[in-house]
Amino acid sequence: MAIEQTLVLIKPDGLKKSLTGNILSRLSETRLEIAAARIVSVTKELAEAHYAALKDQPFFQELIDYIMGELHERRRVMALVYHGEDAISKVREICGATNPEEADPRTIRGAYGRITTLGIYENAIHASATPEEAEREIKLWFGPDEVVYHIYPVQETEVKNPKRLIWA
Ligand code: PPS
Repeated sequence: MAIEQTLVLIKPDGLKKSLTGNILSRLSETRLEIAAARIVSVTKELAEAHYAALKDQPFFQELIDYIMGELHERRRVMALVYHGEDAISKVREICGATNPEEADPRTIRGAYGRITTLGIYENAIHASATPEEAEREIKLWFGPDEVVYHIYPVQETEVKNPKRLIWA
């Protein structure tokens, strides 16, 4: 058993179909802790960095359009970090197989995913597959200040004259 963290994305189809509550309820069955959560408007840069390993796949552009919300008029995803014992395998088990048609119907992707007529998976959720992938993905989607447990090393840096938004 290992204490792990894993990145979960509730994808634009999940948000558009109002599935966020159902998906979070299913994930709570893992008894893992939520260590970070935010709603993200996904830029092209973030989408391409997230799926960088798949850039030579024929469906790469569709994958980018999908995660950016281009297919669902909902340019948002909900990004979360789950933390706890064997977090990666526990979350992947509840997500089900990547291909929604192969996923057990009792899993999130089996219940809510579909394959479009163009052959693109709309599988409602992404979850990191390995500890290395989890570390890379969590560092892409979150800064250390946004995650309550620091299982990866952090360092302090001085920021001079940072500009940021405040309430007017
Ligand atoms: S996994 O879960 O990483 O082991 O799955 P993998 O098979 O390697 O797929 C990686 C991501 O590519 C997506 N995928 C597809 N998208 C659209 N159309 C097709 N045909 C397709 N095949 C694979 C798959 O959904 C994975 O993305 P995530 O975000 O993990 O679901």
